[in-house]
Amino acid sequence: MAKDPGRVLIFDTTLRDGEQSPGASLNLDEKLAIAQQLSRLGVDIIEAGFPFASPGDFDAVQRIATAVGSTDGPIICGLARATKGDIKACAEAVAPAAHKRIHTFLATSDIHLEHKLRKSRAEVLQIVPEMVAYARSLVEDVEFSCEDAGRSEPEFMYEVIEAAINAGASTINIPDTVGYSTPAEFGGLIAGINQHVPNINQAVISVHGHNDLGLAVANFLEAVKHGARQLECTINGIGERAGNASLEELVMALHVRRSYFNPFLGREAANPEPLTAIRTEEIYKTSRLVSNLTGMAVQPNKAIVGANAFAHESGIHQDGVLKNRLTYEIIDARTIGLSDNRISLGKLSGRSAVRARLEELGYTLSGDDLDDAFARFKELADRKREITDRDLEAIVSDHTQQL
Ligand code: KIV
Ligand code: ZN
Repeated sequence: MAKDPGRVLIFDTTLRDGEQSPGASLNLDEKLAIAQQLSRLGVDIIEAGFPFASPGDFDAVQRIATAVGSTDGPIICGLARATKGDIKACAEAVAPAAHKRIHTFLATSDIHLEHKLRKSRAEVLQIVPEMVAYARSLVEDVEFSCEDAGRSEPEFMYEVIEAAINAGASTINIPDTVGYSTPAEFGGLIAGINQHVPNINQAVISVHGHNDLGLAVANFLEAVKHGARQLECTINGIGERAGNASLEELVMALHVRRSYFNPFLGREAANPEPLTAIRTEEIYKTSRLVSNLTGMAVQPNKAIVGANAFAHESGIHQDGVLKNRLTYEIIDARTIGLSDNRISLGKLSGRSAVRARLEELGYTLSGDDLDDAFARFKELADRKREITDRDLEAIVSDHTQQL
């Protein structure tokens, strides 16, 4: 892949780093359903799992590579530590995909080298090109990550990156593994890499970040300004500890503020073309699906996909919105797949209104399943004046548990 793909690539790691959220374990069918929805959403790369970690992860990556990795589908990627065993398993798991990638990583910070890996910098400089070259002997598309880049000494990291690119890595990922960086620092790190790594033109610069200080999205946006062209993120921002950078927040920030970001990608500010390939109208549905399947609720005030993200409570705001939505809304709810005039569901609502709302929430029901959900809806609507999204979700999950 060329250094500058002309837009920002979205690398979704919901099924790998996202699944590392405490309590968010998914079965094979659930992973496949999420991968299929990520493909409809239009992500460029799906990191489907860590094949060496367990036979279940291997099977999930292989099944996703088979079912979702079609010629016109996303790149299917697997994670591998910088060891031959991990890389070989990863290559086997992604093999069925038309477009496949091995993502291998090794830490570059002294704290990880000393306490976790017990390796010297010289050893890291030897292992990285060896393992990248091995991965390249198995697939064409190899990504290398400097784990804990945010706390690594830049000069040492430049050397590691140069060696990884010489060995065949076409994407270089810079993770803020512990969510420690601030936006100015992280942007500066990307600028430094662009300036000091002599062969950086041969690779796409990617960023990956955790939300320990709530700064992951801000860090990424600053990185885009300094040349990052791949963003590693998860739906609803789920992931290890405080989570990863959230896909919906990044995509919508780049969408809503594209005239601000366009010049950093060498475009005219007024260029209306989207900066990512994401079909934004699939965002809400994807968020609901991931929340339902992982059991991880989305906080009501979560940007973009929270229940309150488009709700106006105060009288002054409601009055303003009724006069002109732009007074208090920067995003048209339809952009993320919500219907504009929410039909309120109650005992007079029909089957098609219930089905349409369920679809918006990520549930496509038909036949007996729809009949059953509709019957339960009617029972509840007799007792309750207005049926909320939470009620509908409870109706569907009660039904699923009874199957
Ligand atoms: O946070 C991290 O550093 C990672 C790497 C494996 C990319 O998840
Ligand atoms: Zn991570």
